[in-house]
Amino acid sequence: MASSTGHTRNPFTEVETPAVGVKLEGLTKSFGDHVVLDNITLSVEPGEIFVLMGPSGSGKSVLLKHIVGLEAPTSGRVLVDGHDATSGETREKVRMAMVFQAGALFNSLTVYDNLALYPREHRVADEAGIKDKVMRALQILSLEDAAKKFPSELSGGMKKRVAIARALVMEPQLMMYDEPTSELDPVMSATISEIIASLKDEYHVTTLVVSHDRELALNIAERVGILMDGKLIFLGKPDELRQPKDEQVAAFLYPKIDLKHPRYKKLET
Ligand SMILES: Nc1ncnc2c1ncn2[C@@H]1O[C@H](COP(=O)(O)OP(=O)(O)OP(=O)(O)O)[C@@H](O)[C@H]1O
Ligand SMILES: [Mg+2]
Repeated sequence: MASSTGHTRNPFTEVETPAVGVKLEGLTKSFGDHVVLDNITLSVEPGEIFVLMGPSGSGKSVLLKHIVGLEAPTSGRVLVDGHDATSGETREKVRMAMVFQAGALFNSLTVYDNLALYPREHRVADEAGIKDKVMRALQILSLEDAAKKFPSELSGGMKKRVAIARALVMEPQLMMYDEPTSELDPVMSATISEIIASLKDEYHVTTLVVSHDRELALNIAERVGILMDGKLIFLGKPDELRQPKDEQVAAFLYPKIDLKHPRYKKLET
């Protein structure tokens, strides 16, 4: 059941904590002369599910890295629950978890040990307590049978689910996903989209998803942003994207395959 009080419910302890929000205030990021993010202002509201879309190379992963404090703004600020994301304290005060674009599982560890790594390092419980958490996360993601397997023995869809389970073990108030459905078939993509939406509904965890997946955005987002050339060219409800009026938005979401189009020539430069 979704919390009706604007609180995130911890999946393991059932304890409720106020849901957290994220604010980007004039976020600009350059690498040398290359301005990747150009004065972006955006709020992800507590308990919201927000999907950020944009073409490859538009800066989606860079934006996420600012929220987890792996990149610092060239100018502007990123606030997580009111705390500056570049301050180490923020990660102590706010429990954030990121499902990385490539999964980032440790290939030499079993699924169980991949999930147990963070709670063991942070000594959040004794081994029995950690086992309860890991098994519960595996159960939530329907992965009980995979506990003893190594990542190399898993399908792409299972790896994505393991990466989500591992993030869940961190008991997040803020959950971020970088391309959670890339390289998956449409049915598995739909399953992962449903899992993301159900975790948000069940635990009221603030959710930011970066994705190219139009179906995911249309079906699970409460709001969508589209990043292009360093700017947000769209910010609104997913329904507005079913028949977009803006030409750039339409060309991004509903590209027509045209063998005479010079698009590929642009890629060569
Ligand atoms: N550490 C870095 N140093 C220099 N340039 C970088 C760095 N990180 C990212 N970039 C550049 O920033 C731009 C945005 O990269 P980013 O990875 O955020 O794109 P993306 O939108 O996530 O793309 P994709 O959809 O392919 O994952 C790219 O041009 C990339 O080369
Ligand atoms: Mg990326």
